[in-house]
Amino acid sequence: MWEVRVTPSGDFDNHAADYAHIEVAPLTAAMGAEVVGARLPEMSDAAFEELKQALYRHKMIYLRGQHLTHAEHEAFGARLGPFAVDAYTQGVPGHREVHPIIKEADTKVPSLFGGGWHTDSPFLDEPPAITTLRAVEVPPFGGDTHWANCALAFRHLSKTYRDMLRGLRVHMSARNNYLTQGVLLGTPIAFSNEETKQAGLEGRYHPLVRTHPETGEESLYICDTYTVGFEGMTTAEAKPIVDFLVAHCTQAAFTCRLRWEPGTVAMWDNRAAMHLGPNDYDGYRREMYRTTTAGTKPV
Ligand code: SIN
Repeated sequence: MWEVRVTPSGDFDNHAADYAHIEVAPLTAAMGAEVVGARLPEMSDAAFEELKQALYRHKMIYLRGQHLTHAEHEAFGARLGPFAVDAYTQGVPGHREVHPIIKEADTKVPSLFGGGWHTDSPFLDEPPAITTLRAVEVPPFGGDTHWANCALAFRHLSKTYRDMLRGLRVHMSARNNYLTQGVLLGTPIAFSNEETKQAGLEGRYHPLVRTHPETGEESLYICDTYTVGFEGMTTAEAKPIVDFLVAHCTQAAFTCRLRWEPGTVAMWDNRAAMHLGPNDYDGYRREMYRTTTAGTKPV
């Protein structure tokens, strides 16, 4: 009998590909990589193409010492593609696509924006493809962002289970998060506008196993914050599968975490990774800015 959960093994291939214009240093066996020795605003088109390939390969990449202005951050975001509509946040004055995520030192909240495992706004018809996040001020410890590689996690399921999952459509909705945050914080979450709120609460059905539009790689499209069930299943039927898949994807073997420094810029692929930003740095200020790049309808 296999009574003990078997630790994932094999198929960890987070090595760097051969690049002519950038240098890439992998972070963990599962995912993530540092792009070394480059400055984002000065990247040639050839280097930028390789950066995108590295992002698709490692799911999350980061660069140290960038210290971008809002204008430079916005210009880099624009290079990745058209900006996405953000469901919650608004841009800073003069740079509407650069959205602040700031927690003050004296702010204590039981729940934080992005504090649970999620993929960005999957309740939209066309959820964002890529998110960039830039650190300006960070706590001396804590505030690390974590990611999970949902393509690698999918490959580590048995063939029978993978075949079963391929037939399912996942219901992504902001409903449970909206209600839970409302109870915890005593105030409803602010959506960027009424239309987005209604679309978010209603949610969308997407393929549970989605195919990456650039690489053709299959990945689980699941998360803790927004997955509310599967098409045609009762909540009681769906919940054990959702719980299992979230636990499976977020086990340490499939993750990486980034310790931020002022000037670090990270970016991740929401089509193949979940992430969370923990609420573990009370007493310290954390000032971050993000952009989101539009995605296509998951298939
Ligand atoms: C996010 O979920 O986009 C924010 C993550 C973080 O603040 O680390």
